Amino acid sequence: MDKLIINGPNTLSGTVSISSAKNACLPILAATILFPQDITFNKLPNLSDISFFVQILESLGAGTEGDLDKKTIYSARIDKTTADYDLVRKMRASILVLGPLLSRFKEAKVSLPGGCAIGSRPVDIHLSGLEKMGAEITIEKGYVHAKTNGLKGADISLAFPSVGATENLMMAAVWAEGITTLDNAAREPEIVDLANFLIQFGTKVEGAGSKQIKIHGRALKDYKNVESNEYQIIGDRIEAATYVIAGLMTNSDIRVQDFSPQHISAVLDTLTEMGAKLEIDENGVRTLPSGKLKGTNIDTAPFPGFPTDAQAQLMALMGVSECSSKVSEHIFENRFMHVPELVRMGMDIKLDGGSAIISGVDSLECAPVMCTDLRASAALILSGLVAEGETHISRIYHLDRGYEKLFEKFLALGAKIQRVKA
Ligand code: UD1
Repeated sequence: MDKLIINGPNTLSGTVSISSAKNACLPILAATILFPQDITFNKLPNLSDISFFVQILESLGAGTEGDLDKKTIYSARIDKTTADYDLVRKMRASILVLGPLLSRFKEAKVSLPGGCAIGSRPVDIHLSGLEKMGAEITIEKGYVHAKTNGLKGADISLAFPSVGATENLMMAAVWAEGITTLDNAAREPEIVDLANFLIQFGTKVEGAGSKQIKIHGRALKDYKNVESNEYQIIGDRIEAATYVIAGLMTNSDIRVQDFSPQHISAVLDTLTEMGAKLEIDENGVRTLPSGKLKGTNIDTAPFPGFPTDAQAQLMALMGVSECSSKVSEHIFENRFMHVPELVRMGMDIKLDGGSAIISGVDSLECAPVMCTDLRASAALILSGLVAEGETHISRIYHLDRGYEKLFEKFLALGAKIQRVKA
């Protein structure tokens, strides 16, 4: 198992290019199940979550060719509708195969994802939506088993704008008879990317990015291969937010590019309010040395609110800002696992129910720390960049799930960072 050693404090410089968004790739890979033709992706991020998802598609019978830099999926060959526990347990997002399998094959059996470190993460909203569309769902021996004589378009109002449920229902609706209307749908940029993918492959989708999405179902027998079978996925807004915060925490001049800053406007607005000097254009953000920032209060919320996935990273920045800050987490019940590790590095953070109160400190000390989940790990890297001395960060397999070439990217920005065998 590898670990990272960061020698701080660091000043960064140069440009970092953002990879394709993991959270857009996963639903779009699931959506390839819908369309029985070759589909090619350029630059899928080299992440363990993406490799797992490709393995799930292969286990269903899909053919795949090429490496993640140019990957072709042939889903015409899919002949199984069961996603096994052994693969699903590695990644909760596997539940995203349920909607497309059911839509195309009228049957799907997917191991029920367990909880994960940040919360219990049920799938009731996914399942009740599919039931409204005419699926019969049973839970047997840890598997969700869904069957239908043919899905029908339905009007579905989501109890919460769940990202995964919105994606699953959009995909289920593609071969349903009639129009499916999703109200209180998630509005994240990854939803819009999935809609654009479905549209490229001939589906009529209206309203993605708003609270109401309409998917016009059609008959699978009428499907004709589309000529343009290459799809480019959007840049990863959470990876981008992480590097922007890294630039500010280290008081550095760096450019973070190849993503849409509009996708993180809540983060950029918060940083600006804290006193960050940012130059924002269509394709990226430049951080300018901004000195010590001021504290502020944030509440995580569904898009366009402040993303829960950038909460830990912002908290690391707040930990070395002036005055006090407050972070209230409203999406996941257990998303403060980075707090004890940050405190070990000298931060002053107190938990109060679903909130964390952060009093900025002048400097951080190095300490051995441990990754607990993907974004918590990013907060430790950011803190390691500013702490005095050698910070040893273990269990970095969490980072390999979601940050492509993190070590190489920070090294290229001039960070004193090593990746060693633990
Ligand atoms: C996605 C992202 C994840 C991000 C999250 C919120 C992917 C692969 N992951 O996760 O990085 O943190 O959105 O932006 O895209 N819920 C229910 N019942 C359901 C579904 C969800 O109660 O059926 C709850 C969850 O437990 C959670 C909240 O709704 O508390 C948000 O979950 P959701 O939006 O579904 O997140 P994911 O799609 O799992």
